[in-house]
Order: sequence, then C-alpha cells, then structure tokens
Amino acid sequence: MAESTKSATLTFDGKSIDLPMMSPTAGPDVIDIRKLYAQGNVFTYDPGFTSTAATDSAITFIDGDKGELLYRGYPIEQLADKSHFLEVCYLLLYGELPTAVEMVDFEARVTKHTMVHEQMHYFFRGFRRDSHPMATLVGVVGAMSAFYHDSLDISDQWQREVAAIRMIAKLPTIAAMAYKYSVGQPFVYPRNGLDYASNFLHMCFAVPCEDYQVSPTLAKALDRIMMLHADHEQNASTSTVRLAGSSGANPFACIAAGIACLWGPAHGGANQACLEMLREIGSLDRIPEFIARAKDKNDPFRLMGFGHRVYRNFDPRAKVMKESADEVLDLMGIHNNPLLQIAKELEKIALEDPYFIEKKLYPNVDFYSGIILEAMGFPTSMFTPIFALSRTVGWISQWKEMITDPNQKIGRPRQLYIGKTTRNYVDVADRVK
Ligand code: SDX
Repeated sequence: MAESTKSATLTFDGKSIDLPMMSPTAGPDVIDIRKLYAQGNVFTYDPGFTSTAATDSAITFIDGDKGELLYRGYPIEQLADKSHFLEVCYLLLYGELPTAVEMVDFEARVTKHTMVHEQMHYFFRGFRRDSHPMATLVGVVGAMSAFYHDSLDISDQWQREVAAIRMIAKLPTIAAMAYKYSVGQPFVYPRNGLDYASNFLHMCFAVPCEDYQVSPTLAKALDRIMMLHADHEQNASTSTVRLAGSSGANPFACIAAGIACLWGPAHGGANQACLEMLREIGSLDRIPEFIARAKDKNDPFRLMGFGHRVYRNFDPRAKVMKESADEVLDLMGIHNNPLLQIAKELEKIALEDPYFIEKKLYPNVDFYSGIILEAMGFPTSMFTPIFALSRTVGWISQWKEMITDPNQKIGRPRQLYIGKTTRNYVDVADRVK
C-alpha cells in the first residue's frame, strides 16, 4: 500500500474533514476516503467509477492521455514486438520476466494442464448447437469448480497456483470445444508439441480426416493479439472478477463472472459488434451516414470499436493491431479487404470530425481485431471468446493480487437512495389506483 504523503480537507455543513492522500508510482494521487462516512456521515457518489480507484495494484498501468499501456512496467509495444503470450502470462502472474529456465518450467506446467476432464465433454451436449460460444464458455468455465476440487481452497497458495495454471491452460481448449460444437465437428485434443497459439488454432481448425499444418505467421499474429488483450487495469470484467473474489468465491466461479461481464457490446463484445457494424456500413460511401448517426443524440447507435473510458488518445493496442491487420491480410493473400478499407476510412473521417476530436474518441483494441480474426478463419461469434481466453491471465493475476492483499475486504458499495421513505402496509381492499 502507498504511503500517505499529504492530505485534502473536505469542508461542508460547518465541518472540516482532513482526508489523507496517497501518491502512486505513476498516475494521479488519490484521496483516501475510507473514513469519510464514519467521520462525516456522507458517501461519495461515482456510479461509473469515473473518478474512483477501487484498489491499489502493481500489475498494469494506463496513461489515457499519452495512450500508454504498461504490463508490470514494460510498454505493450515492446512486449508485442519482442515477447510472446506465455512469457507475458508469467510476467503478469509473477511480476518479472522469466529466466530461460523459468520459462521452460512454466510452459511445461501450462502444457500439462491443457486437457479438460473427459466428462466435461458431456456439458456441451446440453447446449443448442447454435448457442453463442460465450454462453458455453460461461457455463463450462463455471462448471470447472464441479471438477477441480483440489484447487478451490483460496487460502492455500498451492491450490491458488494450480487453479491459475489450469485456467490459463484450459480456456483455449474449452473455447475451441465451444467452436467445434457450434460447427458440428468433433473436438480436437490439445497437442503438447505445439505452442500456445498454434495449439488453439489446431484445436479450432484441425479435423480428424487430414493433417492440419498451423501457419507459423498466423500463430505469431494470434499470439500477438492475445498479448494485447492479456490485461487492462480495473476494467469492467476485471472489477467483476475482483468483486466476486472478494466474497471468497472459488477462482473458477470468479473467472466465469468475468467472462459474463466481458460479453457485453460496450466491453469485450465490441469486437464482434464492430465487425458487424463494418459489414452493415458495407461501402465507403455509407460512412458519412453512420458517422452522423454516431453523433446524433437521439440515435442510440455508437461507433463500435471507438471510444474508451480511460484512453483520451489512441489505444496503443489498436495501433499494433492495425499494423498486424495489414501483415495478416497480406499473408492470407487478401488484398484490398473491403472491411479493412472501410475501417481505415472510417477512422480517418472520424478523427478529422470535430465531434470525435472534442470528445477524444479514438479507435480502441476492438476496432481492428475482428478484421484479423475473420481473415484467420474465425466466425464473429468467436471474437469475444478469444478476448476472454487472452484476458484470463489478467483476471487471474488481479484476483491473486486481491486475495493475497492483507487489507482485502469484501466489496460492498453503498448508494444514493431515491426510493420511497417508510410507509405502512395497505390491505388490498383499501388500495385504490
Ligand atoms: C473495451 O475499460 C477497459 O479497459 C475496456 C477494454 C479492456 O481492455 O478491458 O479496453 C476493452 O471494452 C474497449 C471498449 C469497447 N467498447 C466499444 O468500442 C463500444 C463503443 N464505445 C462506447 O460505448 C464507449 O466509448 C465506451 C463504453 C467504451 C466508454 O464509455 P464511457 O467512458 O462511459 O463514455 P461515455 O459513454 O460517457 O461517452 C462520452 C461521450 C458521450 O457523449 P456525451 O453524452 O458526452 O455527449 O462520448 C460519446 C458519448 O455519447 N461516445 C461515443 C462513443 N463513445 C463515446 N459517441 C459515438 N460513438 C462512440 N463509440
């Protein structure tokens, strides 16, 4: 916990309350209001947490004005260029980049846990074939707590560690199974000789009738996408995982809650919504119509993949993703991809439009990811499951940080009550409309 360096004075109703302030290693100072209710009998009010730090954390830092994203202090651009997803997993989980020996050991531990309990296959039979894979993912990941009883005790460090490794290892397997089930193909088992991203591609696209050779370039592009999605400070789904974990719920249940939250189109579901939007726009000449709709206060339409609660500048992940899109499409021999052309023109027009400039709306991580994933052969319904399997390490790292915090308490926000004050029960015979 950061030390208190100075204080702020809150004066109201003839009272003055001194509140300690704490300084971070990076970012804004915070005013510690933990004693405010006891001392001043008032709550603060911040429904969307726009000005509220819900925790301290040493995992990920975002500077929204600069468009900077650090995982344990390392800029995302350097990691995307030099690292790989499992190394980023190690970094997020343990706080430091692994030595060569540590990396080999970590990769071996993850590889050993990539299979799921054989009986879990039956869960999928209960879903309709046309179920959204996110529905299946929420259900099957939550059900992991019905199988892995030896890693449910959150007070046991070894069990926490096993649960973390199991989820990082098994989420791709479960996501691939959800995809295979949706297309009516048999499940493909993980292969220990493949790296993380290659294994996922193999489990999704291999069929029993022939060998499937994973493209190393596609695997590298997917691995980069996974790194870009691995963690992102206290976003909605991470906050969901932390809140669920604060009650002592088992880690599998907490991650299932995070998956459910990520599904929303305002959050991780935006990658699917963005590609569907680009498809609906359909041609360059319709872009002005959609820009106008996005600016129209009476129209609920928003540009999917645009805007962010924290970034008031380019999302650094979107920049890397945009470069990757060109690379992957070229590799796939897809030139002049109409959706990419529309996305680039939409970005150009929006960034020159006073509405977007004034509100500081830029493309976010979801703007280009769908174009790459579709070029790789994934249906739009798999975009958010891929976000979820990538973010699992971030959720787990944040959950571990919360669970091992000696000051950790159950999360229990208060409210500004605007309902009826006390009134007496009225018998139905005496009720008049
Ligand atoms: C992710 O938090 C994270 O870190 C999330 C994430 C992660 O890695 O975990 O980065 C992943 O969720 C990225 C965001 C994906 N969502 C979308 O692309 C959906 C479209 N974007 C918006 O719905 C919106 O920008 C949000 C939800 C992302 C952010 O919403 P905020 O911070 O609550 O901002 P707001 O809704 O208050 O908008 C501020 C203004 C509003 O106008 P006014 O009411 O002030 O006049 O900007 C406008 C909004 O109408 N606005 C948009 C817009 N986004 C905001 N107008 C048009 N199109 C948009 N996309």
